[in-house]
Amino acid sequence: MVSNRLPVSLERTGDDTWRTHPAAGGLVSALDPVMRRRGGVWVGWPGIADETTDTLRDVLDTHHNADSAYRLEPVALTAQDIAGFYEGFSNEVIWPLFHNRFTACRFEPEYWQVYQQVNREFARRINEVARADDFIWVHDYHLVNVADELRALGLYNRSSFFQHIPFPTADIFCNLPWWREIVYALLSYDFIGLQTVTDRVNLLDVLTTLFDHVETTADDDCVDVEIGDAGLEPHQHRLRIGTLPISIDYDHIAELAGSRRTAEYIERFREGWHGRTVMLGVDRLDYTKGLPEKLEAFREALTRYPELRTRISLQQHVIPSRQQVPQYAEQKEQIERLVGEINGEFTESGWVPIHYIFHSMEPAELMAHYQVADIALVTPLKDGMNLVAKEYCAATRDNNGVLILSEFAGAAAELGDHALLVNPHDVIATAERIHEAYYMDRAERQSRMQAMREIIQAHNAFDWVEDFLRAAGANSTNLQKQ
Ligand code: UDP
Ligand code: G6P
Repeated sequence: MVSNRLPVSLERTGDDTWRTHPAAGGLVSALDPVMRRRGGVWVGWPGIADETTDTLRDVLDTHHNADSAYRLEPVALTAQDIAGFYEGFSNEVIWPLFHNRFTACRFEPEYWQVYQQVNREFARRINEVARADDFIWVHDYHLVNVADELRALGLYNRSSFFQHIPFPTADIFCNLPWWREIVYALLSYDFIGLQTVTDRVNLLDVLTTLFDHVETTADDDCVDVEIGDAGLEPHQHRLRIGTLPISIDYDHIAELAGSRRTAEYIERFREGWHGRTVMLGVDRLDYTKGLPEKLEAFREALTRYPELRTRISLQQHVIPSRQQVPQYAEQKEQIERLVGEINGEFTESGWVPIHYIFHSMEPAELMAHYQVADIALVTPLKDGMNLVAKEYCAATRDNNGVLILSEFAGAAAELGDHALLVNPHDVIATAERIHEAYYMDRAERQSRMQAMREIIQAHNAFDWVEDFLRAAGANSTNLQKQ
């Protein structure tokens, strides 16, 4: 397993003392249970600058590997690498571009240089730890070039790529000055998995934009692509692309939601709400999550329907993320300004409309919030999948909850028939959905929620891995591209 983010981040607290922090985000939430069950090696960056690989390996050995079903292997990054590769090319170029925000991109040539160097460094580390028959599974937009770099090192293990974020239309993608280089790099993987059919159609569109002779054969959720153009390396002529929506460890979430620790939190939270309706938001700090739009929609609901005042509160958790990137710091200011404005406008004695929390939570606390919430408001402007939506359903054990979900989240493809779908840009329509959710009768809530829970349970994180490995031919000894 290879990803930029490891499941733990390290912090140095003294000459020889360290603290570990669990990493936030959907990639880690989905992959950690899979690795716990299957074992293996996970190569990635432990979230700290300017430490040597040896130091990081020792710390991870002590704080994780000694007591874990799988092993972490660190990639050491300098502060300069982090600025150019992680904050720069990954999060100021690819992230906004792939979420349809291309005017927000900073197309700095320096970022691209550092991105290539750091991808080379990841490949070197993989080369040090991989055995001849290992299947190499690379994750997400930080590491598009890794398969290409592995080949340059003479490592021909079967390698696949899964992209957790959306794939944009050719029209948007081709704004990237290095879009051709990215496509050539993708062709070095044997198999590419994407979250939705739309993402797959978009990638195929990009391929037909670049190449004249593209033939496709579809089977189930995959498409085999043959590119006949001259000038490609032999291995770049064939690629398989699959639609493989990621999921959660449903049973673990349902179990944790029913644990004694979670019950203690629930008791505390319920007391605080005095029987009011609780609408929950849990989002990483990110401009793709549509937080200002969500707050505006709640303001609109309170304005249009004054009877909702004092009866419903929005509990909005924002999980700290990427604050070194200027747009994230600006987003935080904008959210906090809006929360202040709305609370200033509507607060009445004994009732505050928005409870805003800016820190991460331990899992049992999160499960308790999911269960106490009558409504979850999940309204990203664009999202690869959105695991919060799936977790909310899995944790809602009494089926008594309503999911309001953006039609632009990958999860809408699976849950859209049962959630209340919204266009998050449409503040009035979202306000109407909040009103509808508030008044939805118990029978309808339960039948919708039960249907969503069944869909998620029938396709959990372990099914996703099995499907991926099968589609990627990971168990086959016949190496496709060597
Ligand atoms: N999450 C977390 N720390 C928290 C609260 C939530 O790591 O304090 C998790 C949450 O359980 C979910 C993930 O962060 O699994 C967010 O995933 P999602 O796909 O919704 O969005 P992403 O952050 O990956 O864009
Ligand atoms: C999204 C991305 C992941 C990333 C996560 C958290 O889920 O798809 O690759 O790990 O956000 O972001 P961070 O920048 O902290 O790794």
